[in-house]
Amino acid sequence: MKAKIGILTLSDRASGGIYEDKSGPAIREVLDSWIVSEKEYFCEVIPDEFELIKEKLIHMVDVLDCDLVLTTGGTGPALRDVTPEATEAVCEKMMPGFGELMRATSLKYVPTAILSRQTAGIRGHALIINLPGQPKAIKECLEPIFPAVPYCIDLIGGAFIETDESVMKVFRPKQKKIS
Ligand code: MTE
Repeated sequence: MKAKIGILTLSDRASGGIYEDKSGPAIREVLDSWIVSEKEYFCEVIPDEFELIKEKLIHMVDVLDCDLVLTTGGTGPALRDVTPEATEAVCEKMMPGFGELMRATSLKYVPTAILSRQTAGIRGHALIINLPGQPKAIKECLEPIFPAVPYCIDLIGGAFIETDESVMKVFRPKQKKIS
């Protein structure tokens, strides 16, 4: 089964054409270098609008059938930053460990890592993960959490994701034998 991956960039300025979206393509570049199984991307750049973000997340999961959705941007403290709230609003279950680990690792790079409220959650058979908006934050955040991402998607009935173990080693606990 081909993995469907949604990439949603939240930025008033990138969506308004004021600057180019560099973070969405950065997500794709990182995943292309790690994932060797078949995959398909669905990418969108939209403004920081709560209802619109909810709508796009629901569309990516329920209509496009994505197994993994990565958002970038809108996780900070500014008035227009509402990505974590929109994520929580569409998820059935929150997965706070992802945000905790991303923030903890990011602190090694920037003291302002604590300003990101990035989180993750489950909707149907999809895992939704928030990443900060800085292009350099993409790899910094994905690297520590990705070893647990494919198994999480296995557990919720999504596509089986395989990686090139020489660059990204994922962890799947051994299956218990049924006797
Ligand atoms: N995390 C990493 N790994 N690298 C970064 O450069 N930037 C921080 C933080 N997390 C950053 C990071 C900053 S400056 C902010 S304001 C918050 O993410 C929120 O960013 P966002 O609103 O663009 O999502």
